[in-house]
Amino acid sequence: MKLPTKVKIVDVGPRDGLQNEKQPVSAEVKIGLVHRLQDAGLKEIEVTSFVSPKWVPQMADNAEVMHGIQRKPGVRYSVLTPNMKGFEAAIAAPREEWPDEIVVFGAASEAFSQKNINCSIAESIERFAPVVAAAREKGIDVRGAMSCTVGCPYEGEVAPERVGMLAKLMKDIGVQRVDVADTIGVGTPRKVRAAIEATLAHFGVDHISGHFHDTYGQALVNTLASLELGVWNFQSSSAGLGGCPYAKGATGNVATEDVVYMLHGMGIETGIDLDKLIDAGVYISEALGREPNSRASKAIRTKRAG
Ligand code: HMG
Ligand code: MG
Repeated sequence: MKLPTKVKIVDVGPRDGLQNEKQPVSAEVKIGLVHRLQDAGLKEIEVTSFVSPKWVPQMADNAEVMHGIQRKPGVRYSVLTPNMKGFEAAIAAPREEWPDEIVVFGAASEAFSQKNINCSIAESIERFAPVVAAAREKGIDVRGAMSCTVGCPYEGEVAPERVGMLAKLMKDIGVQRVDVADTIGVGTPRKVRAAIEATLAHFGVDHISGHFHDTYGQALVNTLASLELGVWNFQSSSAGLGGCPYAKGATGNVATEDVVYMLHGMGIETGIDLDKLIDAGVYISEALGREPNSRASKAIRTKRAG
């Protein structure tokens, strides 16, 4: 089967990666990570979220981080906005500091929707609709993250039909592209493919991305399974940072370093300089006082030291 020849990666480390950190991480360090990622060739970076600081204290410096980044031409910067309050905060800054894309985030599981954003799936769509309309009216793109597309920490397995239902709801309110997220990293290739196929009923393959947490070590194989369906957009975190504070037991996203190593090894272009990416992962890991959670990073650094 013909695989995509190019892949676009959104590094979600500054947002998904750091939102779950218990220790304080300064805005300066977050900005430093964004700068290193764009220097490594990342063309899309999920920078922060405009959510309630009571729910996710680590993202309370959202405006400071957006203000502090020096933008690189050709790079797109996205932020999470769960409601109008978040959207208004994201565009309270001068226009040059606005995000290029906002992300509304819903779930294919009712229980997770309640735990993460304190409302039902139907209510979440009602909240997102004006956010999507306002963003598009201002020329800001809109992505929809779909959590728990294969499994939920509270409900267990999630049927692909539920993913299809959520994708349709997102499409109907004007969301332009969606992330099929395995929030707790329980998915295996057939299940992930089923979730993607359910999404393909509503979004073209160019508008679907894979967002795989690596809790059970399945994220790379799920990435490959998605590539086989023609998916060429993926989200990952440098140094394998991350997890959702409302998804108990879930670990980080698949490490961007590991995804890039696999893709380059398969002859698939990413535009990313793996060496610089590894250094970005080392930078943030040192700031957090631990080793990067990436096998490729470890292997390449061992070889470098050799
Ligand atoms: P709520 O408590 O139901 O909201 O929270 P509310 O409208 O009733 O307001 C309560 C208070 O929050 C008020 O303040 C509001 O002003 C304030 P008070 O009067 O009590 O002082 N508030 C806000 N403050 C700042 N920014 C806002 C905002 N909205 C209300 N945007 C809410 C509802 C959605 C806000 C809350 O549940 C929340 O912030 N949840 C975010 C949870 C989150 O960020 N989770 C992680 C991101 S999702 C994820 O990681 C999954 C993903 O990676 C994909 C995957 O892997 O699955 C994307
Ligand atoms: Mg996530």
